[in-house]
Amino acid sequence: MHIVITGGAGFLGARLARTLLAQGRLSLAGAPAQTIRRITLVDRAPPPADLAADPRVDAITGDLNAQLAGDGADGANGGVADDTVWREAHAIFHLAAAVSGECEADFDLGMRSNFAATHALLEKVRALGTRPVLVFSSSLAVFGDSPEQPLPQVIEDHTLPTPQTSYGIQKFIGEQLVADFTRKGFVRGRSVRLMTVSVRPGKPNGAASGFFSGMIREPLAGLPAACPVPDATPVAIASPARTVEGLVRAASASDAEWGPRTALNLPSLATTVGDMAAALERVAGKAATALLDRTPDAAIQRIVKTWPGHFETARARALGLAADESFEAVIREYVRENPDAVKLPGVA
Ligand SMILES: NC(=O)c1ccc[n+]([C@@H]2O[C@H](COP(=O)([O-])OP(=O)(O)OC[C@H]3O[C@@H](n4cnc5c(N)ncnc54)[C@H](O)[C@@H]3O)[C@@H](O)[C@H]2O)c1
Repeated sequence: MHIVITGGAGFLGARLARTLLAQGRLSLAGAPAQTIRRITLVDRAPPPADLAADPRVDAITGDLNAQLAGDGADGANGGVADDTVWREAHAIFHLAAAVSGECEADFDLGMRSNFAATHALLEKVRALGTRPVLVFSSSLAVFGDSPEQPLPQVIEDHTLPTPQTSYGIQKFIGEQLVADFTRKGFVRGRSVRLMTVSVRPGKPNGAASGFFSGMIREPLAGLPAACPVPDATPVAIASPARTVEGLVRAASASDAEWGPRTALNLPSLATTVGDMAAALERVAGKAATALLDRTPDAAIQRIVKTWPGHFETARARALGLAADESFEAVIREYVRENPDAVKLPGVA
């Protein structure tokens, strides 16, 4: 089996690749599991060293829009001049995207990376006629609160998205395209709405939600961190492990298990910024929370406050997916997985 992961050098794409390589086999759309022989990571950034070293991994380093437009003939874009990689893909996980803060700051970037690339990818596989399983990573940001359309207290599987940001709009358009290309039989599409993923290791990124990871990761590293929204701010969190589990399950579910073509909300842990800080203190002590800078940031608050904090995810539960048990457990998992990133004394 050949699997393509767009955004495969990113945080979740690389973690997904590691998970798939470790399990070695994958069932697609309810079919018997097959051995994964090749994973191709398509990303502007080069793959992490461990993935590059795996003989089952290929990397195409270049811009996805250019790849799909066939602009690789000169070798400048990973040297891919034909459609082989797409033609041979049994499953495509489409994760490449510009993040929320970037899309608010640069409208054209978001339209290109999130809308145009998704449309071009769907058109590519439609033209090839190969009907791969295509898992699209959408986001809880398709749900947005506004005075004229207040969100319900709890988001359910059938709640209508009302995005309030460019990123949310682009993700919602992507979901709709995946649904219609699926209805027409061009792909076997599954859109999965990811929750706010925390704790993200590594460096901060341009996501408006970035501080939900930074407020844990940086203090654990002994560094100051911004926490620019009030304690009461609700947030729907999922750990990296639970999130990747959701992406893999989306690919493996049979059509009957998957159900409607609409996007699936992944399970989330309903918490608040104050409770996250309290969990950090339980794991790492007052020395950690003393590193949180509580200066408000109006731009971040404006985006984050439109996102919902509570989901009821019956459809995901029926697929065997569950939320993390507590945010404290999520922090402890991060500490276990990233021992070198934890510098604060006494944290184990
Ligand atoms: N991390 C979260 O909290 C979260 C929440 C909801 C949804 N998502 C979605 O999950 C997916 C993965 O998120 P992530 O956190 O791993 O992000 P990330 O920024 O770490 O990874 C995205 C990768 O896509 C690549 N990329 C972007 N545009 C590209 C283009 N035009 N051509 C080639 N490569 C391109 C980037 O280089 C990057 O490596 C994204 O679609 C994101 O919108 C993430």
